[in-house]
Amino acid sequence: MTNMDQMIEKVKWIPNGLIHFMEKWIRKLPSVKKEINKQTESMASDLESMVKPYSGEFQSHAKLPESGIDRSVILDELKNISALEEKRWKDGLVSGAVYHGDSDHIHFLNEVYALQSQNNPLHSDLFPSASKFEAEIVSMTAHMLGADKTNNEVCGVVTSGGTESILLAMKTYRDRAWAVNGIRRPNIVLPVTAHAAFDKAGEYFKIKIKRVPIDENYQADINAVRKTANGNTICIVGSAPNFPHGIVDPIKEMSEIARERGICFHVDACLGGFVLPWAEKLGYPVPEFDFRLPGVSSISADTHKFGYAAKGTSVILYRTPELRRYQYYTIADWPGGLYFSPTFAGSRPGALSAACWAALLSMGEDGYLESVKQILATAEVIKQGINEISELKLMGDPLWVIAFESKELDIYKIMDQMTNKGWNLNGLHKPSCAHICLTLRHTKQGVAEQFLSHLKDAVDFVKENPSESGEMAPVYGMAATLPFRGVVRDFLKQYLDIYYKV
Ligand SMILES: Cc1ncc(COP(=O)(O)O)c(C=O)c1O
Repeated sequence: MTNMDQMIEKVKWIPNGLIHFMEKWIRKLPSVKKEINKQTESMASDLESMVKPYSGEFQSHAKLPESGIDRSVILDELKNISALEEKRWKDGLVSGAVYHGDSDHIHFLNEVYALQSQNNPLHSDLFPSASKFEAEIVSMTAHMLGADKTNNEVCGVVTSGGTESILLAMKTYRDRAWAVNGIRRPNIVLPVTAHAAFDKAGEYFKIKIKRVPIDENYQADINAVRKTANGNTICIVGSAPNFPHGIVDPIKEMSEIARERGICFHVDACLGGFVLPWAEKLGYPVPEFDFRLPGVSSISADTHKFGYAAKGTSVILYRTPELRRYQYYTIADWPGGLYFSPTFAGSRPGALSAACWAALLSMGEDGYLESVKQILATAEVIKQGINEISELKLMGDPLWVIAFESKELDIYKIMDQMTNKGWNLNGLHKPSCAHICLTLRHTKQGVAEQFLSHLKDAVDFVKENPSESGEMAPVYGMAATLPFRGVVRDFLKQYLDIYYKV
């Protein structure tokens, strides 16, 4: 037992809430401080080589070069870097991240970007095309998500990604609750599995985050939602599906609780917005989750995931224009002139909106239907294969984001073995598990079979070598067992410091 383990043993009886409250003081104790530093320093030094694999391989530029470097030299270096990084995702070894990835699709998006690279929606007088692209992206997404089955007032905005869509929706609800209901101490009720972006919104906008547990099906516990929502609740959130386990919450029931009490309801369909409508058409068991449900007041859906746009766009949709107005920013007395913008950014890359618009048009309904068909067929093979590995257990009954745990083996060690074979899976905790988010990359010939064969080998290896540890197992192990959240958060800040080190 290490000193750290002994310390964890000693504080195990203290309720978590109290430990978090006391953490600041406990961490000041010299013996605790010493042990924590010892543990995190050794992990941080491993981290640096992981975050900065190019140190020494490519020239670093801490200062501007005295005279500009020849463009061809820069392009050559970029080609070398890309060659090093693209193999893994092209070969389908990566969970999520690159959702389409076929060369002709990428080439097409690049062509659109090149044509529109100067476009800035902030200057829509100069680039009226930005308004065309963005209005049409919003409208196409809204119709896909049930807008035409409502009174058709659904509207929205193009944002830079899922996190921005979520942040904006939460800011919108906070401002509306303040103006309409006089709520000064707002809270949001959401399951523990809803995305971290909601915590970020809570921190940024001073909204209390009330997480409720999930049930045995990994779905939000309805009773807990009912009990937790109160007069200061500005919004209830459900995921379709959630990031950790790929499970869709009971959106219908949750949105009804919200509707009965006059609370807004947000569906986080960042991951599923461009999958579930097509999965439903293909006959998969997709519960209702979109604007067809009268209690749903907003939906986030990421075009840069399964919409197959380039990275940097998402859509936030609202049931009514009245709601959307709380998102806008306008100022009428700034010496810089009349200023207004729909999102957090000022200037924005109109080329990304153009590429997003082009991706949606070139895919069309038949393109999305076919890609979802392929992804879900691959998912069936993978789920079946995992079920056949007795040491692993699927978490719930997911469609294409497939999480698995092991009661007998250290799942993070299995993940590290997969990393050694070139795979890049997502490590999750509370409970400890890993997932693979399937994309079009995994539908290529032989990828699913290779995944399963490597997974079986990884399980066998960890079974035979239970004490052998990889790179991430200790980090996840620390996060899972350490009662001090602040230590883990400081460690993550250290990661970000290293990220920005030249
Ligand atoms: C369900 C869900 N919501 C929100 C997000 C955040 O999206 P982004 O990383 O584009 O900000 C993700 C990202 O994976 C997600 O899976």
